[in-house]
Amino acid sequence: MNSPGKPDRATWIQGPSANCSPRPERVQEPWRLVLLGAPGVGKGTQADLLHQRLNACHLSTGDVFRSAGSRSECDQSPAMKAALQYMRRGDLVPDSIVWEMVLERSGCLRCGGGFLLDGFPRTLAQAESLKQLMENQRLYLTAVLNYSLPLSEIVVRLSGRRTCQNCKAVYHATERPPKSADTCDRCGGKLFQREDDRPESVKVRLEAYEKSTAPLIEFYQRMGILVTVTASGTPEDICERTIAVLEDCRKRNPARERG
Ligand code: AP5
Repeated sequence: MNSPGKPDRATWIQGPSANCSPRPERVQEPWRLVLLGAPGVGKGTQADLLHQRLNACHLSTGDVFRSAGSRSECDQSPAMKAALQYMRRGDLVPDSIVWEMVLERSGCLRCGGGFLLDGFPRTLAQAESLKQLMENQRLYLTAVLNYSLPLSEIVVRLSGRRTCQNCKAVYHATERPPKSADTCDRCGGKLFQREDDRPESVKVRLEAYEKSTAPLIEFYQRMGILVTVTASGTPEDICERTIAVLEDCRKRNPARERG
């Protein structure tokens, strides 16, 4: 989603031939973060708030797939068409397709403003590939944020989610409603319910998370960069909690920033 002054993420969303506008500012100590957590826990909402605080760019793999899905069929590559089928069912897109897409956009990982990876990595194979790629480029993750919330609250968040079809801002029908029904407060765009928020797809997504993504918690714990954040309360409270743990991380591990 875009707030005023937020880069449009064109390079990430459309691919390396597009240039972000405005170009993210280079900062001295960029934050390079991964946001982990079950579908619907609030990663996208937090990424948007964290961007405003840390300046790092919000890089969501789900947004890349959804944006490709909104193009005409003939503008979609065969791999992207296949990816969209998996996504609609709630299944994970195969690693090979995801990795090809991320690799094509790997320049975004070197962005001078840092990054907030949301929805990637999602399997151990993706996490290994990212680690290797970053090590080769002498880049290091500052931290991996693991957002946690009881399943019952996650289901409520997913079933009420509404997204702006234009700027991708995220609302909740009852918890964070727009001022005017079905209309985005930021840009006036129409709000829609994501196809994969239907109950049958949500079930598949939650199972895929448990089976394939939850093991990443241990992976990053072993690397010593995992921090768990309770995802209950208002988005602003959760963001404050996140900033506090990140500041603590930086104090404890300043050497990591030189990457
Ligand atoms: P993706 O887009 O990454 O979806 P996800 O991980 O399932 O996460 P969501 O976007 O559903 O939730 P979120 O945690 O961002 O929550 P949000 O902030 O919106 O992936 C979609 C699909 O793409 C996957 O299923 C897969 O098919 C494919 N894919 C993507 N990446 C892949 C990869 N790497 N490998 C393989 N496949 C991949 O919040 C949810 C709702 O809660 C909103 O309505 C929001 O307003 C509300 N809310 C947020 N915070 C709060 C709060 N504190 N209090 C009350 N309400 C809140």
